[in-house]
Amino acid sequence: MGDLPGVTSKLEYLKELGVDAVWLSPFYASPQADAGYDVSDYRDVDPRFGSLADFDEMLTQAHALKLRIIVDLVPNHTSDEHEWFVQARAAKPGSETRNRYIFREGKGEQGELPPNNWQSIFGGNAWTRLVEADGTPGQWYLHLFDTKQPDLNWENPEVRSEMEAVLRFWLDRGVDGFRVDVAHGMIKAEGLPDWDGAAAMVEGQQAEDSADSADSADSEKAPEGNMNPPSPFFDQEGVHEIYRAWNQVLKEYDGDRMLVAEAWVEPAERLVRYIRPDEMQQAFNFEFLLAGWDAERMTAAITNSLAAVESVGAPSTWVMSNHDTVRHTTRYGLSTPTGFPKGISAADEQPDEALGLLRARAAAAIMLALPGSAYLYQGDELGLPEHTTLAAELRQDPAFARTKGEEIGRDGCRVPLPWYDQEPGYGFSHGSVEPSQPWLPQPESFASYAADRQDGVPGSTLEFYREALALRSEYELGQGVLEWLEASGLHQPDKDILSFRNGELTVLANFGDQPLALSTEFLEDRGVRLRSQPKALTENGELAPNSAIWLS
Ligand code: GLC
Repeated sequence: MGDLPGVTSKLEYLKELGVDAVWLSPFYASPQADAGYDVSDYRDVDPRFGSLADFDEMLTQAHALKLRIIVDLVPNHTSDEHEWFVQARAAKPGSETRNRYIFREGKGEQGELPPNNWQSIFGGNAWTRLVEADGTPGQWYLHLFDTKQPDLNWENPEVRSEMEAVLRFWLDRGVDGFRVDVAHGMIKAEGLPDWDGAAAMVEGQQAEDSADSADSADSEKAPEGNMNPPSPFFDQEGVHEIYRAWNQVLKEYDGDRMLVAEAWVEPAERLVRYIRPDEMQQAFNFEFLLAGWDAERMTAAITNSLAAVESVGAPSTWVMSNHDTVRHTTRYGLSTPTGFPKGISAADEQPDEALGLLRARAAAAIMLALPGSAYLYQGDELGLPEHTTLAAELRQDPAFARTKGEEIGRDGCRVPLPWYDQEPGYGFSHGSVEPSQPWLPQPESFASYAADRQDGVPGSTLEFYREALALRSEYELGQGVLEWLEASGLHQPDKDILSFRNGELTVLANFGDQPLALSTEFLEDRGVRLRSQPKALTENGELAPNSAIWLS
């Protein structure tokens, strides 16, 4: 599955790419029921990935290269193999150890029915019934995700102090921040009322009417009326108290430590409440990710996000893919490039890979010119597509099993990167004594995306990303201010053209399938600094379809 020494060996590659921080998904002790998001010991590295000493070595080397390290924190649930849950299982109903989780008696004459109607995000019931120590069927425990991920009881002060101690454990080791998993979870509505909405994570919970839901950023009231219907387990008011406490913990440390929320919360006004000055520092902007390849949707996502973050004085973030979503290169190559499939299998529509890549590079040229923090998912820089034909028996995502294959799941975006096109597993275990096959097989097409095939090749996706990131830093775009070029008539999202200025740079993107003629004066006044693809600008001074350029 890869390991921490492997990460260490690629720090130079990341430095050369031009990033300044790395977020690592969970490497803690875990039975891997959900790719490490089921933690059995928050203070140790899983032997699959190495040791605490390997972590320290990685951190030291990263810092020597001026790369910051952000680790994943999973506070909503533990693994059912965590010591606390093992104790809770063995203990009696009502005991202190059970009170660290959410145990309830079942309904029905014999307690044979779950305590409420909540469904797991991964499909199926969100409750599992225990067999008590004496062999009789007993209480039920809540798990918003897999059966092997029992939810912690955040009303219990012991849970709060333990998680703060975990934060300190990693801060003491020198980490620069935490990506907070399911940051909108943890607190559940009092009485755990039934809920008829569809439990989902990646779409967020769609606002029924976002016009009605434009709740002000400092509103303290629950999201009544803006959800359909409001969820009793996500985005509860009480969660903010936790982040205010964590903000204080981080303040005890030197440097610029940070928290970034993974919170699928809509609308943007609701999301930015997680990044008020005394809470977290950043939150992933999933509206941008969900916009897809569409000039109007992307414009709206950018405008909304910038306005919302401004209201709380925090920076915006931008992201197009992550380990929970179909890679954007693939999504943009589907007949509906704003669609959001939950995984793709061989039975589904297959993407136009070349078109998807063209668009993905243009979208990256837009994203990397925006003010705020841009997050890349590993392999974005190689233009990597989703593995869309993985065999069912190889799939490991619990959502695939729990929905009996109805939801294809997230394995297709998690396939290991191709480093060397001629090596077994495309060099995934490069340098090992016995090179092994990667934990998920790569499609053959990955050979053409291998890092060694792109390194130093002008016009390759890797070189394009390196160039864009270097310019982003040179022009200090992250700290800049965006201005849509509406007045000059350039920015016309309804005509598939997106255009803005950030400081000295002008960005122009053509989402359409026709070349866009640019006036000679326009081009003469400016120098082209970046092309999303080598032929982005034609000899006749036209901006090619599905392309973007930066001018200064
Ligand atoms: C987050 C993670 C996802 C995980 C889930 C449960 O959404 O990104 O991978 O399955 O939380 O921890």
